[in-house]
Amino acid sequence: MPKVVIGSDHGGFELKEHAKEVLLEMGYEVEDAGPESAVSCDYPLYATKVASKIKGDVLGILICGTGLGMSMAANRQKGIRAAMCTNEYMAKMAKAHNDANILCLGARVIGIGLAEEIIKAFLTTEFEGERHMRRINQIDGL
Ligand code: RB5
Repeated sequence: MPKVVIGSDHGGFELKEHAKEVLLEMGYEVEDAGPESAVSCDYPLYATKVASKIKGDVLGILICGTGLGMSMAANRQKGIRAAMCTNEYMAKMAKAHNDANILCLGARVIGIGLAEEIIKAFLTTEFEGERHMRRINQIDGL
């Protein structure tokens, strides 16, 4: 089971706490990069913290109000392919075709039940490689 590093801002704090329990129940090792409370904070800090821990098969989950700020900030980090997903199909394709290494969620956009399904789809889908690898290499060369 790969390790999952999770982080949020205040907008995603409550869902982060719930997601941690779901991940532990699924058997994943979980590292919480913060924050430790729902006090207002800045999402780029936590996006950077989580992104810095993505190596090998370690995956990340970032949660803010919309998932947008987290994905923008995370995707500025070298080697990061952060995907903001609002449904299971996006989460599956983010892994299967884009080999995403961070899942971004918007806690003010989706409910807890859907968030759980998206997380499960993301973590259990494998990258398909082949032609998709060529395209990932092209992203890395940008
Ligand atoms: C915080 O109010 C909100 O802007 C943040 O959680 C996120 O949605 C940004 O993209």
